Amino acid sequence: MTDCLHVIVTAGPTREHIDPVRYLSNESSGAMGFAIARALLAAGHRVTLIAGPVSQETPEGAARIDVISALDMLAALEDHFSEADAIFMAAAVGDFRPATRLEGKWKKEEGGAAAVLELVENPDLLATIARDKGPRKVIAFALETSDGEARAGAKLVRKNADYIVLNDASALNAARSSVTVLNADGVVWRLEDVSKDETAARLVELVGR
Ligand code: CTP
Repeated sequence: MTDCLHVIVTAGPTREHIDPVRYLSNESSGAMGFAIARALLAAGHRVTLIAGPVSQETPEGAARIDVISALDMLAALEDHFSEADAIFMAAAVGDFRPATRLEGKWKKEEGGAAAVLELVENPDLLATIARDKGPRKVIAFALETSDGEARAGAKLVRKNADYIVLNDASALNAARSSVTVLNADGVVWRLEDVSKDETAARLVELVGR
């Protein structure tokens, strides 16, 4: 019988607004994070699910916090991380946000002049909260198109994570994918051509290690 742990799962994309009706975002569906939340609940753990804008059904028993932007997600993490035992940081956090959010709609210039959007970098949410993680288990995610294991290993160190779950680009919105889990010593295990639910069931074991 596993101990009941309190686990935070972040899922989905963030939206970085340009004006009231336009934003920058990404293709994340939230499927991986929601599958992990379901698998954690099935294993008897308590789940706080911090979700960007997604159309996913809330798993029964999860405490869900909906957020929009990376800064909103950071605020939710700062509120809840200290009371958690572990975190799966599956959200696809936007790296940049517009330097200013316009109050009214962005209007075209007369004469078809090119428009320039100034972006500023978002904080690294995981690195920020994991800096003082204490005994909490931190599981990061990475999606890489080349040099996957080397890049993921470097991210694990930079973000002070215990594990990093490496997907290749074919995993985006795909039903099946191959997944590699690394820790500071290298590859821990690899699953080939598995569903997100199968991956999630294996990932849950990481919080107990
Ligand atoms: N992440 C985060 N905050 C960010 C960006 C990423 O917490 N601003 C987290 C993601 O949720 C994921 C991990 O960091 O768990 C790796 O995400 P990724 O986008 O691959 O990392 P980046 O540091 O943004 O690397 P890259 O330069 O390759 O985009």
